[in-house]
Formats: sequence, C-alpha cells, structure tokens
Amino acid sequence: MRMDIVTIFPDMFKSPFAESIVKRALEKGLVELNIVDLRRYTHDKHRQVDDAPYGGGPGMVMKPEPFFEAVEDLKNPSLKTVVVLLSPAGEVFNQRMARSFLAYEQIIILCGRYEGVDERVHQHLADKIVSIGDYVLTGGELPAMVLTDALIRLIPGVITADSTAEESFAEGLLEYPHYTRPASYRGMDVPAVLLSGDHKRIAAWRKEQALKRTLKYRPDLLEDNGSGVLD
Ligand code: ADE
Repeated sequence: MRMDIVTIFPDMFKSPFAESIVKRALEKGLVELNIVDLRRYTHDKHRQVDDAPYGGGPGMVMKPEPFFEAVEDLKNPSLKTVVVLLSPAGEVFNQRMARSFLAYEQIIILCGRYEGVDERVHQHLADKIVSIGDYVLTGGELPAMVLTDALIRLIPGVITADSTAEESFAEGLLEYPHYTRPASYRGMDVPAVLLSGDHKRIAAWRKEQALKRTLKYRPDLLEDNGSGVLD
C-alpha cells in the first residue's frame, strides 16, 4: 500500500512513524509512506497556501490550486487510488472505514489547516472527507496519523491476524480485560478463572467481561447503529 500525506508541516510526521510497528511495516516494505510538503505545489515567492475568505469573516482559507496540483502529481494511474481530505466536517472514522481503505493500493491524504479548505477541494478533489471525532483540532495532521496508524496495522503481515481479530470492535464489543504476572500485586489479584487453565471457562468469562464493559462504556455498540462496529 502506498500512502501519500500532503501537509504544510511534514516534520510533524517524523517521530510517529519512526517507532515500533509502523516502523517495521515500512522497513518490511509492506507500506510506502510519502510525506509531501504542500508548498512544493506553490509558484509564488512567498509559497502561499492560504488566502482571505470570499465574503469576509475571520481567518484564512487554504487555496485549492496546491491541493489539485499535488494530487495530479502524486496519483499513480496504474494504482487504485482514493483521495481523503481530513476535516471535522467529514464522515466519522471507525474500524469499518479503516478496513474499507484496504481495498485501495494508494491513499492520498490531504491535511487541512487554518479556518478551512476551499470548498472545491471537498467537492471536486476528495473522494472521501473524514473526521476522527466530534472535536476540532488545529489541523489534519494528527487525524492523518490516526488514520494511517489504524490502517497500517490492518495490512496483512504487519501484525498477527489473531491480534486484529480478537481486539475491541472486531467482534462488536469492547475488548475483555487483560492481566499478566504477578498474579497478586499490592493486594490486587488476577481473577482466579484466568489461572485455572480451563479454556472454556476462560472464554466464557472474557465474553461476559466484554459485554459488561460495553454496556457500561459504549452501550451504543450494542444496538446496530450503522457505525460498522458490529460487523
Ligand atoms: N481537522 C481538525 N479537526 C479534525 C477532526 N476532528 N478530524 C479530522 N480533521 C480535523
């Protein structure tokens, strides 16, 4: 999978992808990550990427031309590509959407900044507009990292299939609690069932715990609300 991230802050992406699982996926060549400076696609002396909004109002709006030129330049015509614009005004990201992106060979991610991005980028350039949640961040860079991380770990070979199948959301419930040694720590004991060696009882306990947790923290997941987590 090839990923191109278009941003005015390419340096922000250095450390998140230089560690651990993502780093290994890049080293193994399972993902090709290309961080692109949007200013590369400006032609004026000041390398301007934003301008005042038509109609007035506060703040600046990101200009359309650099985004269009970036996508034209980066799009590999022999790959199945999707262009994603990150915006708090988009469809909310979830595990189902992460999985759906696996169908593409190239994903071009556009990070917005300032008050917003010219509407023509939304309407005529992006295939999908994605929000990572109902809160407003200073830009699309952190959301791009979230999306990229969620996607990379689903790519076959990046982590074991067991981990992705067992975890939260894969079965429509939050994940069951995990424990490791020591069995007793400062008076806090690991539930006896986990030490029993009885795999059937352990599986039943885990299922019950997952249900209890989901009921407490995410009762919405127990109804099919179309969010994709009950697949
Ligand atoms: N840019 C600013 N806030 C955002 C959010 N919540 N999701 C995606 N992009 C954003």
